[in-house]
Amino acid sequence: MKVGFIGLGHMGAGMAANLLAGGHEVTVYNRTPAKARALVERGAHAAVRVADACRGDAVVTMLADDAALDSIVFGDEGIVANLAAGAIHISMSTISVALSKRLAATHADARQRFVAAPVFGRPEAASAAKLFIVAAGAPEAVDACSPLLEAMGQKTFRVGDEPPVANLVKLTGNFLIASAIEALGEAMALVGKAGVDRGQYLDLLTSTLFPAPVYKLYGGMIAEQKFEPAGFAAALGAKDIRLALAAAETLRVPMPLGSLLHDRFLTLLNHGGEALDWSAIAGLAAKDSAVEGASL
Ligand SMILES: NC(=O)c1ccc[n+]([C@@H]2O[C@H](COP(=O)([O-])OP(=O)(O)OC[C@H]3O[C@@H](n4cnc5c(N)ncnc54)[C@H](OP(=O)(O)O)[C@@H]3O)[C@@H](O)[C@H]2O)c1
Repeated sequence: MKVGFIGLGHMGAGMAANLLAGGHEVTVYNRTPAKARALVERGAHAAVRVADACRGDAVVTMLADDAALDSIVFGDEGIVANLAAGAIHISMSTISVALSKRLAATHADARQRFVAAPVFGRPEAASAAKLFIVAAGAPEAVDACSPLLEAMGQKTFRVGDEPPVANLVKLTGNFLIASAIEALGEAMALVGKAGVDRGQYLDLLTSTLFPAPVYKLYGGMIAEQKFEPAGFAAALGAKDIRLALAAAETLRVPMPLGSLLHDRFLTLLNHGGEALDWSAIAGLAAKDSAVEGASL
């Protein structure tokens, strides 16, 4: 397919590379143009403006947050003003339910198609085309995107015709991951301070009650208190909890654990967390406990 790709950060760079590897004709755009260079060397076309990435069958966005996506989508230079009727905007960033609703309505008014397809998986999974994709939109639009989604992920889960549902599912997934990180951080601070080897403790947990990728991956980072480099930045993690709480407020669903996590992220960002991975909220428990080897 002929596809534009906008947003070449930790995730987008690997995803765009996999579209190229899958034989698609890819035009890439990034606010900081230097990040497009490696992809252009591998055969991508460079877009100077957003509009140049909107001339194909579809355009994928993988941007930091609502503000970034808003600035790329709306306005005379944006996606809506430049995408052909019938072409598809595939929004893969983790954004708010409210913005997804607005995008679905705006693209429909412009006779364009809109598919929400946020992802689970960190930059390593993005580079290895191992993402889990949560897709929602008109079935024929999701069908039309399949060759692109298959090039970027190991599996696509369809969650219905309404794009914002995919965004809600993604946000609740990140709420669960952050909850696991916080819980692991507290448990490891306790056993660590009691002198138990954190690595052995993690082996025990992940080979018995918690043999889950989230516990293995983040448990390893917490056992080592290693929160750099930031594969998923703390500020983006904070954003996801904020967006989950916003969706919960709209539906009047109390999420006390979500509120606690939100405060944990604010504390982390106030204590040098900007440059760290979001799993560094677990470092707060170690710091609070004055555990040996605490990294914050
Ligand atoms: N990292 C993960 O593990 C992970 C996993 C699943 C989902 N996600 C989600 O995927 C999305 C991208 O994450 P990431 O880790 O790739 O983030 P990232 O490395 O920070 O990249 C963010 C991208 O957004 C662009 N951007 C930021 N603000 C902008 C603005 N105001 N105008 C235009 N472009 C702007 C950046 O451009 P510049 O290069 O110019 O800064 C960059 O291309 C986020 O929604 C995140 O929540 C991330």
